[in-house]
Amino acid sequence: MTKTAIVTGGSRGIGRAISLALGNLGWQVVINYNTNQQAAIETVKAIKGGKGIVVQANIATAEDREKLVQQTLAKFDRIDLLVNNAGIAPDQRRDLLEMSIESYEKVMGVNLTGPFFLTQCVAHEMIAAAAEKTNPSPQIININSISAYTSSTSRGEYSLSKAGMAMMTTLFAHRLSEYGIGVYEIRPGIIETDMTEAVKSKYNKLFAEGLIPIQRWGTPDDVAKTVIAIVEGYFPYSTGEVFNVDGGFHLRRL
Ligand code: NAI
Repeated sequence: MTKTAIVTGGSRGIGRAISLALGNLGWQVVINYNTNQQAAIETVKAIKGGKGIVVQANIATAEDREKLVQQTLAKFDRIDLLVNNAGIAPDQRRDLLEMSIESYEKVMGVNLTGPFFLTQCVAHEMIAAAAEKTNPSPQIININSISAYTSSTSRGEYSLSKAGMAMMTTLFAHRLSEYGIGVYEIRPGIIETDMTEAVKSKYNKLFAEGLIPIQRWGTPDDVAKTVIAIVEGYFPYSTGEVFNVDGGFHLRRL
């Protein structure tokens, strides 16, 4: 029985590292992408043995979420893991008092509404499989952020979406536990990807000034390793658990 994972936004950055780590562990990986088909295909090719497919879907739209689930089932007939990884920052950083409703709706659509309803859709499949005992221990992992509790007034829509995702983790952990579905959340800190490319020099300076205890950029692999620890079953008596992968950013000090 080969396990199957869906990784949203799996063609680059953190999603790519998660897809490769799962694929190299022998999983069948459904690499979802929105626009960059070539990068998604290259990610599948980079998996040792290449056990994966790419599926185009904009997770902010209902039809595409349904398509993603249906194409996964058509190809592999099972979903053991959903990784809600796809996410966006606002197109422009703008002061909270100037935030547009368009930017708010766009960020919330990809970062919260999309993952919420995709999880709902996948959960129905996982519950059905659990009833037939064809799928013993399905899991859902949300790639959230330190922005779930850190206020950034120049990108408030991002913080709001990530704070919402924290409750989404809690809600689904409660609701799905009776079916044996574990729900987890990873909160990366400042990770070196395309998303943070534009603010690289800002954070290089902040790291040098001691912003976080572990004074370096996080890597996509740091996040992928945490996913692997979860799927390997090392947290059997936990659900709704939050894993901080942030170099210690969340620690407070006086
Ligand atoms: P990235 O920008 O490199 O990758 C994001 C991926 O999501 C891309 O492949 C993109 O095409 C995909 N995507 C965007 N909109 C989509 C849509 N509507 N439908 C399907 N796919 C879509 O970003 P990165 O850094 O790899 O981020 C991945 C996740 O980690 C995001 O949820 C982000 O918020 C979160 N995160 C990132 C941190 C960082 O410092 N890079 C820190 C904390 C959290």
